[in-house]
Amino acid sequence: METRIVGAEEGLDEAVSLIKSGELVVIPTETVYGLGADALNPEAVKKIFEAKGRPQDNPLIVHISRVEQVKTIAREVPDEFYALAERFMPGPLTVVLEKSDAVPYEVTAGGHTVAVRMPNNAIVRRLIAASSPIAAPSANRSKHVSPTTAAHVYDDLKGRVPLILDGGECAVGIESTVLDLTTDIPTVLRPGAVTADMIAEVLGAVSSAGKIIGVAKSPGMKYEHYAPTVPAVAAYDEDKAFARYDEEVRAGGRPVLIMRERHRAAAGERAFISLGDTPEECMRRIYAALRKAEREYTFVIVEALSGKGAEGSVMNRIEKSVGGKLL
Ligand code: TXA
Ligand code: MG
Repeated sequence: METRIVGAEEGLDEAVSLIKSGELVVIPTETVYGLGADALNPEAVKKIFEAKGRPQDNPLIVHISRVEQVKTIAREVPDEFYALAERFMPGPLTVVLEKSDAVPYEVTAGGHTVAVRMPNNAIVRRLIAASSPIAAPSANRSKHVSPTTAAHVYDDLKGRVPLILDGGECAVGIESTVLDLTTDIPTVLRPGAVTADMIAEVLGAVSSAGKIIGVAKSPGMKYEHYAPTVPAVAAYDEDKAFARYDEEVRAGGRPVLIMRERHRAAAGERAFISLGDTPEECMRRIYAALRKAEREYTFVIVEALSGKGAEGSVMNRIEKSVGGKLL
């Protein structure tokens, strides 16, 4: 199969036909690129799992074009959903609700709940409005780093999808916050740009354990994720990071440090990729940095960030991409 990258606006009509005929289309969103198919067509949804190499037991997010469309996806919509929608939608927040009969079990991995999100890209919302709600996981091969440019998607999925809509670089850069509204206390299952504090301002109480103990409620969280193709570790301690770097060099490797701008001087002669000064900048650039690192270097050392707020969301992805290996 030939894979074409087309500007989002220019490719819109073709994307509508592809989705309507049960084919895959890659969509740009503010978080990361998504591998989309008609969420109400089980055969189309199966193609997503095949193209990504995704385990069947990991459910998909359904993307809607306007808030009211949630009613076709969810059986009952609690008031909390509308309160959150008012503040955060469209945007990088996904909400888990009881699923409606219209949503096939292929989307929910056999479960009775469904994850719903309204993305911020106006062209993608036009695509959804003209075709159907779109189920879409991140448009990477399963377990690899999520894509934040059309070129990242092409690297992972060429030959597996007919059309990539190019919407430029993703503005947020890590996946949406996933919030479960089916639990007694709303629970953050995956941290993101919309932080637990921001949600608590709207809802009052939110549970945000960060780590999942026992049964994984959000099945995706139990898999290794976001992993670069070369070995990677994270370090809180700069001296340890530099020592490990020097060790790799002595062993004949080509290591790189991924760190925040303020460490530029301290890194000295060592190769580094800087993420930026603000948590938002780090969020936007972390995945592109990991992909650059795996292309050009043999070993990656990522500076660990603090566990709070937006930095905590970035650190969640760093921990996963290094498989929990901390120096
Ligand atoms: O920003 C995003 O969320 C991107 C863009 C494309 O929208 N999508 C994305 O999808 O990151 P994916 O499939 O890579 O991650 C979806 C996460 C997984 O951890 C999955 O287990 C969880 O959401 N999830 C989906 N449906 C769920 C459900 N019904 N209950 C609990 N967790 C669910
Ligand atoms: Mg993903």
